[in-house]
Amino acid sequence: MKLRFDYNNMMRETIGERGIPEKAFSDESASIKQAFETVMANRGKGWQEWCELPFSQGGYIDELITYCGSIGQKADSFVVLGIGGSALGPLAVASALLHFRHNELPAQVRKAPKLYVEDNVDPERMHALFDVIDLKTAYFNVITKSGETSETLSQFLILYAALKKALGTAEAKKHIIVTTTVGKGTLYNIAVKEGFKIYGVGAGVGGRFSVLCPVGLVPFAVLGLDVKALLAGAAAMAEACYDPDVRKNPALNSAFLQYMSMKKGQNISVLMPYADSLKFMADFYCQLWAESLGKAVDNDGKVVNVGQTPAKSLGVTDQHSQVQLYTEGPFDKVVTFLAVDKYRSECVITDDKDIDACAFLKGHTLNELINAERKATEFALTKANRANFTVYLPEVNAETIGELLMYFMYETAFAGALLNINTFDQPGVEEGKKATFAMLGRSGYEAKMDEINAAPKQSKYVIGR
Ligand code: PA5
Repeated sequence: MKLRFDYNNMMRETIGERGIPEKAFSDESASIKQAFETVMANRGKGWQEWCELPFSQGGYIDELITYCGSIGQKADSFVVLGIGGSALGPLAVASALLHFRHNELPAQVRKAPKLYVEDNVDPERMHALFDVIDLKTAYFNVITKSGETSETLSQFLILYAALKKALGTAEAKKHIIVTTTVGKGTLYNIAVKEGFKIYGVGAGVGGRFSVLCPVGLVPFAVLGLDVKALLAGAAAMAEACYDPDVRKNPALNSAFLQYMSMKKGQNISVLMPYADSLKFMADFYCQLWAESLGKAVDNDGKVVNVGQTPAKSLGVTDQHSQVQLYTEGPFDKVVTFLAVDKYRSECVITDDKDIDACAFLKGHTLNELINAERKATEFALTKANRANFTVYLPEVNAETIGELLMYFMYETAFAGALLNINTFDQPGVEEGKKATFAMLGRSGYEAKMDEINAAPKQSKYVIGR
């Protein structure tokens, strides 16, 4: 394991009454043990198929890398159509590992297609996409585990029609890769009928836990990223998470600290990477944490309405917008910093005018500055007795990103087990999906439409038109 976890500033010894007492580890040892055993007992089973993804895909990885690599050679643009768990993993990893201005680089420097992750159905955005891609050299990956999501199906229909018009049906088919559950769902049926290339999402791999299956691996291979190193990193972290000792198992440890923090009313979990490359990792984390832990009932059917609201923040940018609140506002947050020991570039602060007032900056690097600012923010929060926690990446690369993804997934699974909830369902999201089907007149959803029509009309309290 290459990542390092520092939880000193979560503890009572450091931040006083707001912190977690040392004895909590022994007082809660039975709950920790039960949560650990629950997650371990289900590894590779049911909705925990994601646990085995670093180890179980050997049968098709080489084919996937070769086929997708060949698409990467031909494509000028690669467009991911997906939403939620079918978009955020690909976006987070690609943003971490590609050149920061990847799409703006000249093709010969880029050496991989431009990437567009289209995870919304804003009509203006769809038109804007058509303005920047050339359909003749654009390839599309339609990702939907269920194969039923309205947003993704709509995007697919629009783009497939445009592709057929531009290239003819036979050629258009070659520009589409579908990632979905094999044997089931509208998109799977279309893909078989049309003869699209299909990669499968395992039955027990849920959307937000799918980044290490073809949902993420197809785009990564098209972009020439090191898929095997990513999986190796994930495997190393998975193995670290098999340790029953909460002092050594990083995901069990932080899940427990967050669980104890929730008990203290610290119901907001802020993820604050100090690296632009990790900015979308915060989006990935937010979805994972929110959809997995925000639940109405526990496993015994008791109404609990639990969950910790995830928030994203970017260091140092958001020091100038949010840190004031974190330092002096309500004691309702845990801030997790993502720190990078060694950035992939170094940038020296030069000053050819020798301005006296700037002398303290001259000769230092932006690397020193960003790390000093992270430590300064950590110092300020700790001084104000605010719970905070730091995950250190030695550097951002495929292996450390694989570790980080697996850490977040195991942390979420352990936290859900501590809360005694179903971490892997999302009834709130499904309800919205069904209501959308009903409102668009999908057959089979008439009763849902009746329910929507019967809901009280809210027209009394409106200001404006
Ligand atoms: O994590 C989840 O299950 C959801 O966020 C889904 O990923 C999202 O709703 C998209 O679903 P699908 O992949 O079926 O299109």
